Amino acid sequence: MATKSEVAPGVRFRAYLSSGQPSAIVGLGKCVPERVLTNAELESFLDTSDQWITERTGIKRRHIAPSGTASFELGAVAAERALASAGVAARDIDLVIVASSPPDAPFPPMACRIQELIGADRATGYDLLAACTGWLYGVSIADTQIAGRRIETALVIGAETLSRILDWTDRSTCVLLGDAAAAAVIAPARGNGGFRSWCLGSDGSHWNLLTYGAFAESGAYALHDPDPHFEMRGPETFKVAVEVFVRECQAALDAAGVSVGDVDLFVPHQANRRIIEAAARRLGLPLNKVVVNIDEYGNTSTATIPLALEEALTNGRLHSGDQVLMASFGAGLTWGAALLSWQAMD
Ligand code: ACO
Repeated sequence: MATKSEVAPGVRFRAYLSSGQPSAIVGLGKCVPERVLTNAELESFLDTSDQWITERTGIKRRHIAPSGTASFELGAVAAERALASAGVAARDIDLVIVASSPPDAPFPPMACRIQELIGADRATGYDLLAACTGWLYGVSIADTQIAGRRIETALVIGAETLSRILDWTDRSTCVLLGDAAAAAVIAPARGNGGFRSWCLGSDGSHWNLLTYGAFAESGAYALHDPDPHFEMRGPETFKVAVEVFVRECQAALDAAGVSVGDVDLFVPHQANRRIIEAAARRLGLPLNKVVVNIDEYGNTSTATIPLALEEALTNGRLHSGDQVLMASFGAGLTWGAALLSWQAMD
C-alpha cells in the first residue's frame, strides 16, 4: 500500500480568530502513574538500546499505570487537581469533555464516569475522538461555547493508558508511548487574556499512518482484528508531522497578526523530540522558547499539551500576557494549533 509523507495538495490550513466572550485556561492538573519504565528496563526484554531511543526520540522514561487502571480514573484525579488549582467547585462545571486514544470503552462516555467521580452533577459530558489532537479540539469547543455565552465553565481532560494497547514485542512502537492524564479548566477571560486564534483541520488521505488494529492485505485496517494494537508508519508520520506543525502554527499566527518573534512559549504535542526541534527550526523559534518534556513521559497522546502546560506553569515559565502557541497532530490525520494570551492564575 502506498503511503505519502506530505499533506494532500487540496488540504487547507484554515485558521480563525476567537470572537465573542474570550476564554482562558484558569486551572491545570495532572495525574502521572508512579511506576517508571526506563529505557534500560526496555533493553532487558527488547532488541533496543537507551542510546537508540534517546537519539531517535528524546525519550528516557515513561510512566505506566497499574494493570486494570482505566484512563477515566487517571482523568478524574487530574480533573480534581485542575479544579483545585482554579478554585472552582465541581458542581459549577457546565461541560466536561474527555479526549482519549482510544477511550476505555465505546460507551458509556468516560466524561460521564468522571462527572460522577468528581461530582460535576450539573455538567453535560461527552467524549471526543480525534487521537492526539483531541484535547485541543475539546478546548476549541469550550472556547466557542463560552464565546457564545452558552456556558460559563468547562473541564477538558486528556486521559491515557496507552500501555494497554501496545505490542510489547514491537520495538518500533512500544518504546514511544506512556500513560498519564492532564486537565484544564476553561472559563471567561479577564483583561486581555484568552484564546486569540485557532487552526484546526484533518487530512483523511493519511488515515493509514496511525491505526489501532493491524493492516489487512487489502490495505484497509482489519476491523475485526481480535487483538488490536497501536500501529504506525513511523518515518512517513515523522515527515508529515513536521510539515503540519509548521503550517498550522503559521496559519494560527497569521490569523492573529502575530509574528513568530512575538511568541513567548511554544507548547507542542510531544511525539518525538526531533519532530519538535525540526518544526521549531523551520518556524524560526529558538529552543529556549519550546517546552519539551518527552524525556520523562514519552508520548501520552491527548495528555501531552495540558501536561506540558502544567509543568511550564509549575516551573515558572508562564507569565501574564505571554503569547503561548500550542500545536498538535495525531491519527486521522488530525491537527490543531491555538494562540493564547496567558492569563495569570490566582
Ligand atoms: N530500537 C532499536 N532500533 C530500532 C527501534 C528501537 N526501539 N525501532 C526501530 N528500530 C530500527 C528499525 O528496525 C530500523 O532498522 P533497519 O534500518 O535495520 O531496518 C532502524 O531502526 C530505523 O528505523 P526507522 O523507523 O527508519 O527509524 P526512524 O529514524 O524513522 O525513527 C521513529 C523511528 C522514532 C518511530 C520515528 O519515525 C518517529 O518518531 N516517527 C513519528 C512518530 C510519531 O509522530 N508518532 C505519532 C504517534 S501518534 C500519537 O501521538 C499517539
